[in-house]
Amino acid sequence: MNELLEQQEQQHDITSKWICTANHGFIAYAQEELRRRFGQVKAMVLMPGEVILVTLPAAAGQVLRELQTDPLIFLRHIQPVQQEFNLTEVGQEELNTAIVSFVQSHHEPQSGQSVAIQIRKGSNEAGAIDLGLMKSTIEAGLNDAGLETVTRDSDWFVSIFAGKDTVYVGVSTPAANLSDWSGGALRFQREEGQISRAKFKLLEAERAFGLDLATFSEGLDIGAAPGGWTSLLLERGLKVTAIDPAEMHPSLTANRRLTVMKKNASEVKFHESQFDLIVCDMSWSPMQMVRLVMDLLYALRSGGTAIITVKLMHKKPLQTIRDITEKFSEHMEIRRMKQLVHNRDEITLYMVKY
Ligand SMILES: C[S@@+](CC[C@H](N)C(=O)[O-])C[C@H]1O[C@@H](n2cnc3c(N)ncnc32)[C@H](O)[C@@H]1O
Repeated sequence: MNELLEQQEQQHDITSKWICTANHGFIAYAQEELRRRFGQVKAMVLMPGEVILVTLPAAAGQVLRELQTDPLIFLRHIQPVQQEFNLTEVGQEELNTAIVSFVQSHHEPQSGQSVAIQIRKGSNEAGAIDLGLMKSTIEAGLNDAGLETVTRDSDWFVSIFAGKDTVYVGVSTPAANLSDWSGGALRFQREEGQISRAKFKLLEAERAFGLDLATFSEGLDIGAAPGGWTSLLLERGLKVTAIDPAEMHPSLTANRRLTVMKKNASEVKFHESQFDLIVCDMSWSPMQMVRLVMDLLYALRSGGTAIITVKLMHKKPLQTIRDITEKFSEHMEIRRMKQLVHNRDEITLYMVKY
């Protein structure tokens, strides 16, 4: 925890201010999760559907501890708001200098450490501010103060959000922001010959859940076509069984580690404990998906992992999630549930079999 956070706690400053981001259309669920976790939440919309400014009735250090120990599903990214600048009172030049002074007065980061500046603005707002100029001026100021400025893998972030009349600034470590991408908007590069965009979901799940898919030996992919997830499992060296009534991409079918079953998942049979990994990305009614996967769990060995996409089909995602977790918990330890950046109207579950 940095010094400013500790000072705030010692002073019994029991509120803290944050900018919170979720996938577009899901910020209301992130806000509801925050309300359930922290009680009262004072919120203001900064970008409709995806970014809010919140005041939580807990010190910054406590908020971070809680969110890191037990992460929320829909909250993708947070950044602390430790200083606000009113755009009707300061011009751009003055603002840039004031931000550099604020970072320096913050006690951390210290000379020799690296800082990345993450700047965003609310859509069509803060139009008069030149974000490129702001970034380069602040970087120059921080360099003069002995700090190295980088774009990735920094020790610290200076997060700046330019709203309509106010610029919000906070200094934090990458871990404290829940994601080291600005606003949490992680992006993977599309590869030559990539079979489906769905592959990004599994790549992101691997990273978000701290997994190394190469540590598994035999995987079952339910609802596998056209084969983005299967291709990733094969790349990681697994033997894979892919089930789908639809066609798998022809580039995969010659792979000798792949068995394709062109069937409905309700029609297949396997050996007990045959697999140490089950993945499922069927865009299907959540409860039917649960039933199908539960019926195949005998084929997952105890201690085996499941990574499953859950479609949020109706207007009550929190209720859907409750129903699904209740069912899965009979056999599985639910390690994490998260709406990944690459999930659309979905979340992803990471579970381990008891
Ligand atoms: C979103 S796609 C999967 C994409 C895949 N993960 C990829 O990376 O390319 C969903 C697939 O689930 C399959 N599916 C739906 N219901 C199924 C069932 N009952 N049994 C097997 N596959 C099913 C569909 O045929 C479809 O190909």
